[in-house]
Amino acid sequence: MDKIVIEGGKSLKGSVKVSGAKNAALPILAACLLTGGRHSLRSIPHLRDIQTIKSIMSKLGVTFRDGKEGLEVSSDNLTGCEAPYDLVKTMRASVLLLGPLLARYGKARISLPGGCAIGARPINLHLKALVAMGVDMYLDRGYVNARVDRLKGADIFFDIPTVTGTENIMMAAVTASGQTVLNNAAKEPEIQDLARMLRGMGADIQGDGSDTITISGVRDLRPARHTIIPDRIEAGTLMIAGAMTGGEVKVEGCMPSHLEALTEKLVSTGARIEVGHDSVVVKGPDIIKSVDIKTMPFPGFPTDLQAQFMAFMCIAKGRSMIRESVFENRFIHVSELKRMGADIEINGNQALVKGQNRLLPAPVMATDLRASASLVLAGLVAEGGRTEVQRIYHLDRGYEGLENKFKHLGAAIWREKG
Ligand code: EPZ
Repeated sequence: MDKIVIEGGKSLKGSVKVSGAKNAALPILAACLLTGGRHSLRSIPHLRDIQTIKSIMSKLGVTFRDGKEGLEVSSDNLTGCEAPYDLVKTMRASVLLLGPLLARYGKARISLPGGCAIGARPINLHLKALVAMGVDMYLDRGYVNARVDRLKGADIFFDIPTVTGTENIMMAAVTASGQTVLNNAAKEPEIQDLARMLRGMGADIQGDGSDTITISGVRDLRPARHTIIPDRIEAGTLMIAGAMTGGEVKVEGCMPSHLEALTEKLVSTGARIEVGHDSVVVKGPDIIKSVDIKTMPFPGFPTDLQAQFMAFMCIAKGRSMIRESVFENRFIHVSELKRMGADIEINGNQALVKGQNRLLPAPVMATDLRASASLVLAGLVAEGGRTEVQRIYHLDRGYEGLENKFKHLGAAIWREKG
């Protein structure tokens, strides 16, 4: 297994461009199942999760081709409707195939994703909404078996503003008979990007980005051209790295309006931020002030930046209370950070971080995607030796060549094939 090796202590300086958003590309690729013809998608990032969903879709009969307009996706001749466990268990977002397959095909057999490192990750809200839209389903040996003649519009209320739940039902509703209203819908930018793609295909969707989304079913859809939005979590990870190493980093090709919760917290740590039209410059603080955060659904502080921000607070002056309100077990990175000298006490969904003067290099092990990013950030500031981050296949799920981006900014970092 590959590992990333870092000789910490360098201040990052320079400009770096953000890749397309993983969590927008995944539902948008799934949406290509909704109609035949050739879709053209730009800014699809080269990530393991993208490879995984393409593998599953290929088994369903979808074809992919790298064209001059970006990735060309054709689902003219669907030959199957099953997403197998051995692929779904590596990527929960495969559940996003459920809505489009039922809309296009009237049936689907999707492995229940199972839990993952950060929590049980149930999909009960997805399934409850689909039943309300007329789907017959039963669970059998770990698979959801679903059938419907034609989906019917329904008034849905999500107990929790689930991101992929909102996306799944949006895709199920676009050709359903009648109107579907999603109440307490998720408001993440990736939801809005999917809505833009679906409107480009001819769907009638209003209210995306708010907590009430209204979808009026249409008879036919057409293939679309679409450019994926920038990855706000990668952008945030790069911004935290600039602040943490006391450098000056310009993150280019991002959407600053997607990063306001993080930007506000970075300013509170003493970092200086210059916001441009599609870029953010972050200058590290001379003295890092401790700052409390609580993760919330968008537009609150993103849970996907919690581990990275915690690494930053490990070298701040003072104490930082970090509350994780979205997932029930998203502190797995803590034990590895403590091996690098961090002082962190966990109490339920709260972690009290007592800032230290420095972190120490050490061999550490990634356990999930954002935890691995957190350990790389910690390695960037751990001076006097080498930090080795093992099992970085977790990192490769969601970051496109992150070590190369940090190397470009002056870090002493490289990948060793294992
Ligand atoms: C999406 O996951 C993202 N993944 C996650 O990013 C992100 O952390 C999460 O949203 C929250 O922002 C993709 O978009 C592919 P949820 P999702 O449904 O949709 C509970 C990353 O690192 N819930 O919004 O699975 C759930 O357990 C990944 O890129 C139910 O109880 O998250 C959680 O506590 C990690 N029942 C909360 O809701 C359901 O049916 C929010 O989950 C669905 C969710």
